[in-house]
Amino acid sequence: MSYDVLDVRPLTKRIGAEIFNVDLTKTLKNKELEEIHTALMEHQVIFFRDQNIDHESHKRLGRAFGELVQHSGVAGLPDEPDIVRIHGDHNSVAVAGEDWHSDMSFDEKPPMGSILHIHTLPESGGDTLFASAYAAYDGLSEPMKAFLAPLTAVHDGNHVFGIIADEDTTYQRKANRFATTRHPIIRTHPVTKRKLLFVNQLYTTKIPELSDKESAGVLKVLFDHINDPNFHVRFRWRPNSIAFWDNRCTQHFAVWDYFPETRSGFRVTIAGDKVY
Ligand code: SIN
Repeated sequence: MSYDVLDVRPLTKRIGAEIFNVDLTKTLKNKELEEIHTALMEHQVIFFRDQNIDHESHKRLGRAFGELVQHSGVAGLPDEPDIVRIHGDHNSVAVAGEDWHSDMSFDEKPPMGSILHIHTLPESGGDTLFASAYAAYDGLSEPMKAFLAPLTAVHDGNHVFGIIADEDTTYQRKANRFATTRHPIIRTHPVTKRKLLFVNQLYTTKIPELSDKESAGVLKVLFDHINDPNFHVRFRWRPNSIAFWDNRCTQHFAVWDYFPETRSGFRVTIAGDKVY
């Protein structure tokens, strides 16, 4: 893929690229937005450095790629409902995303993407890992792909947000019940048309076509598979870095190795489509 205005530097062959030569605090030109979208489709998660964006620029950037959606489990900022605070400090008993997941996969239409701006970081640590769900699918054997093709899986937010919201005031409980949805295990990306593995350790609870024992065994195999470093990129944040991930074909894991230090930022989430 060639780019006229952006400087796109891949971090691995399978997933992740850093993008230079763009100022996200400004209203972007159509060509810049077009190339950001192209880079996102090509690399699945893209990273920007030294972007001191405010809430307005953050929302404008998100809206350039779709409608913003509010988190069904976590309240947004009191005066900015489309913006969720991502925060950990000495008082935290949990932080967002401490296990492999795609955001809000329990929704009927899980988000297309998320844009996370981290402004405050600990001395060290607080990295985020991203996994390519395309690479994970491609890495399955042909008999396994054929076995999974007709199956669905249940994605459930209750066991995660119910508990977090009860224990940690960082997260404001938004509802008493969170969505539970069934999606195909093998998903087709609506833009690239590539196939990908769509189950994640945090939210996927069951394969209803199988017995409980079979379901637990198969999900364990798939969760172990996603954990393969060959499918990953690990992002080391600096203050005012931004990560923009395609939530349909990636999973991420926020490493909470910095307690009791503070790591803080804001996220917007972009609406997605029904999974097929
Ligand atoms: C999340 O959106 O799951 C949090 C990611 C992070 O804090 O790096």
